[in-house]
Amino acid sequence: MLAYIIWMFALVKFGGSVITDKSKFGEAREDIIARLCSEISFLKKGVIVHGGGSFGHIKAVKYGFKNGCENRVYFSEIHGDMIKLNEIILDNLLSNNIPAVSIPPHTFYPFGDLKAFRYYIQEGFIPVTYGDVFWKDGKGWIISGDDLMLMISRELRPDIAIFVSDVDGIYEDLERKKILDVITPEMVSSLKIHDVGDATGGLRKKLEVMFQIAKMGIKTYIVGGFLHNNLRKALKGEDFIGTEVRV
Ligand code: IPE
Repeated sequence: MLAYIIWMFALVKFGGSVITDKSKFGEAREDIIARLCSEISFLKKGVIVHGGGSFGHIKAVKYGFKNGCENRVYFSEIHGDMIKLNEIILDNLLSNNIPAVSIPPHTFYPFGDLKAFRYYIQEGFIPVTYGDVFWKDGKGWIISGDDLMLMISRELRPDIAIFVSDVDGIYEDLERKKILDVITPEMVSSLKIHDVGDATGGLRKKLEVMFQIAKMGIKTYIVGGFLHNNLRKALKGEDFIGTEVRV
């Protein structure tokens, strides 16, 4: 097990609802960010993706980025807000001695490839990227952290992809709060999924992305981010609270 952990290449997304209070603009949950960063500090090879939460979604919805927004100043505004959240994440990674290097989406999307990731991983760094705005065809759009998880999985083939979420997994039964150990595509139609009205599509879209990642043979999990040591346990192959996504 120890040997596996040392060579394992992990892709981890910190969901925006975990690292921020999604109802209050620009409110980072610094204590949770600090804990999550400490839980991954043993990783030797990895990529961190983080969501936008209240730094991204509130204005993205208000300015209509879902259908494209032509206003360049609004674009810069959201872009600047996301840089602030990214800086908080980087500070916390650094406090845990993690050699993080930020590779923001506007440096490679939609025109480039993931060469910078490959380069910095090879050089012993942990690249960090995030859901953000990008410009295409005269309009600003959103690239979500989940889309980036898929893109990075396709090109870099991690061993494990973990989505750290504000829910403890996929609920089989919302009333009894029963969490599924495993979810497969066949099970989705029987689930009651309450999609939230954010800028990037909610749980149903997230599951589609996860199934695509699992299809590549990558171990894919959704794990609760509010539980102490849960992320660390999931990464180390120990018992954790969450749902495995399987195809
Ligand atoms: C959204 O990224 C980024 C912006 C709205 C600018 P995500 O869609 O990955 O964020 P979360 O995880 O849902 O908050």
